Amino acid sequence: MKDLLGISDLTGDDLSLLLELAVGFEDKPGSAGDLLAHRIVPMYFAKPSTRTRLSTAAAVARLGGTPVTIGPDELQLRRGETLRDTARVMGSYAAAIVIRTFADADVRDLAAAAPVPVVNALTDGHHPLQAVADLLTIREHFGNLRGHRIAYLGDGGNVARSLMEAAALAGMDIAVATPPHYAPQAEAVAYATAEAERRGGRVLLTDDPAEAVEDASVVYTDVWLSMGDPDRERTRRMKVLAPYRVDDDLMDHARDDAVFMHCLPAHRGQEVTPKVIDGGRSLAFRQAANRLPATQAVLYALLTDRLEGHR
Ligand code: CP
Ligand code: NVA
Repeated sequence: MKDLLGISDLTGDDLSLLLELAVGFEDKPGSAGDLLAHRIVPMYFAKPSTRTRLSTAAAVARLGGTPVTIGPDELQLRRGETLRDTARVMGSYAAAIVIRTFADADVRDLAAAAPVPVVNALTDGHHPLQAVADLLTIREHFGNLRGHRIAYLGDGGNVARSLMEAAALAGMDIAVATPPHYAPQAEAVAYATAEAERRGGRVLLTDDPAEAVEDASVVYTDVWLSMGDPDRERTRRMKVLAPYRVDDDLMDHARDDAVFMHCLPAHRGQEVTPKVIDGGRSLAFRQAANRLPATQAVLYALLTDRLEGHR
């Protein structure tokens, strides 16, 4: 497997391996410190980023390489050079390419033309690096994944999709509560349902937040207006998504030992109350910290050809 464009590129064993590697890197951050010696990893960000950009830079540095961050206006792409030509050229200098952009088709194009691994650092459709860190965080907290239910509430976009796919590959239960118009894509739901059922897990889709959080070990949410969403949708989204706000009442419907998770950035008072995200049950900042060993694991596994994927 050359690239990580979405969680569904991975097999269940690949995901387990990434989690094992990430735990190893938490323990010994410099254990593969020469892997990228004298090499660069270009990181193209067409959308803003705090966590992904810095954790990926740190992961590349820990592997001995040099991250090079590139903004949307800095390449000849802006002057009409094709993505494919850009990929070929980048591939002659770089060990891997990390890209955050809008359309998934662009990332697929880049990966098809690049001779080196391409990692999706968030698109409108996927956020695989986040999902790997999320499962790492859940496993770290509870000691295992199977037997736990994640309740995801709010907008069924990129974070929901990757989390649902990862939960399914790990054989967990996941309940996704969204307004009907903001449900995850049918194709992703079908994939996750089949993968979860093969492993004894379950995927539940509902528009009822209380139903989703029942028996949940994890209550997870994301922003209501994503970077790829048009600003004209803001008012409508704030209104339609309001019943999905995570507050103490909703947390009380989950398991007694349930934790709160959020990929961040958070908008306190919108998708989550300050009391919940800043309270003792919140793992949001642990998740953010875990982005580093998770991304280090992904880069290491791709660069050493350790992932099977669906060859
Ligand atoms: N969670 C996450 O991807 O954050 P950034 O947008 O800051 O990278
Ligand atoms: N769904 C959000 C995630 C941010 C990390 C977005 O795409 O903006």
